[in-house]
Amino acid sequence: TTGLITLDDGYANTGSCQSAITFIDGEAGILRYRGIPIEDLAERSSFVETAQLLIFGRLPNEAQRSEFRTLLTENAALHRDMRKHFDGFPVTAHPMAILSAMVNAIQTHEVRDEEATDRQHFKQAAAGLMAKTRTIAAASYKSHIGQPIAYPRYDLNYAENFLHMMFSVPYRDYEATPEVAHALNMFLVLHADHEQNCSTSTVRMVASSGANMFASVSAGVNALWGPLHGGANMGVIEMLDEIRTTGIKPQDYINRVKDKKSGVKLMGFGHRVYRNFDPRARILKDAADKLLDAMHITDPLLDIAREVEQAALADDYFASRRLYPNVDFYSGIILRAIGIPVDMFTVMFAIGRTPGWIAHFREVSENPAQRIYRPRQVYTGAQLSEWQPRSER
Ligand code: SDX
Repeated sequence: TTGLITLDDGYANTGSCQSAITFIDGEAGILRYRGIPIEDLAERSSFVETAQLLIFGRLPNEAQRSEFRTLLTENAALHRDMRKHFDGFPVTAHPMAILSAMVNAIQTHEVRDEEATDRQHFKQAAAGLMAKTRTIAAASYKSHIGQPIAYPRYDLNYAENFLHMMFSVPYRDYEATPEVAHALNMFLVLHADHEQNCSTSTVRMVASSGANMFASVSAGVNALWGPLHGGANMGVIEMLDEIRTTGIKPQDYINRVKDKKSGVKLMGFGHRVYRNFDPRARILKDAADKLLDAMHITDPLLDIAREVEQAALADDYFASRRLYPNVDFYSGIILRAIGIPVDMFTVMFAIGRTPGWIAHFREVSENPAQRIYRPRQVYTGAQLSEWQPRSER
């Protein structure tokens, strides 16, 4: 049996832990980064200053923001030898497989400035990881379509630079409209952190062994890839597209979900913590509407998403289980409108979540009281047994 394991075990033997980074109230649908409501940050904060808030504990002043932005641009390039890795991946390689491998590989090329203090080195490494994650994502896309990699520009912010690195070609720079840049910035801010979710807990667990930031975040990328976690944003679009192409009525699809034998889940619905609504889903639903209006485009999948949401929320199966749209239900509509390929949707989630992972890595690795994560189990296997010679088995 397992006794009550308390926090003062320094979470050495528990899955729970203490953190000062993000607060969630699942009943009230509250999400705050370092105490600041997500609604304020999503509308008014740049992704980079949100990253600094998460990693360093407070919103930056102009000098701190400018310094970090410069570090991001100056540390965005990949070492020439890292780019050889792209040649080794098959064209069919999943962008998340490339991302986790390349994030881990950064450390092999990481040149430590011996004169830098630990704090300066951490700041440079953090900016480098955020910047290189963006470069790796854009470079894997460019390698996939056979185009040269574009490098970031000083005059663009993080989201604008990502779009430039994804869609600029040698003879013409891509210029993001303010609406598109704002929508992508908001997407990244909304994905930046989320307390002890599966991938962040993975980062914290790996960090607790003393592993470095790149190894810890690479493990987080792999955990995020799962379809029940960050992979769900791709799953939502695939689900909506299946409804569109098969012509199945949303209610009939929902009936298939309710039939447990089908094993089909309503992707983008449900959450372990939010029991009434996911505040991010509300913001993203509104942002999707606004972006498509601003771009003067319509997306049949958005209409289907609304019908599915309406039908599910009216159905007792979902209401009784307190299942509501989560962050992944509408986010894909925004990425589609921007022109991000579906197989990069989870990579976009990872780019957004990187500052949160860095903040949690720092919180664990700089905590002098930190002990290695070592969860216990309820043993359900065989009781004491005797060894038998092979002739008697
Ligand atoms: C993210 O933790 C985080 O914060 C994660 C995240 C973050 O920012 O890091 O918010 C990001 O991962 C969001 C979740 C994305 N995943 C999906 O949209 C996939 C679909 N959702 C489900 O797989 C599920 O809701 C989870 C994984 C999100 C939550 O899983 P739980 O808490 O283990 O829920 P559960 O499986 O215990 O469900 C309880 C009941 C079960 O039915 P019964 O056994 O009671 O009959 O609800 C059912 C489940 O079968 N259920 C669903 C469902 N989600 C739960 N039934 C159909 N469709 C669903 N989506």
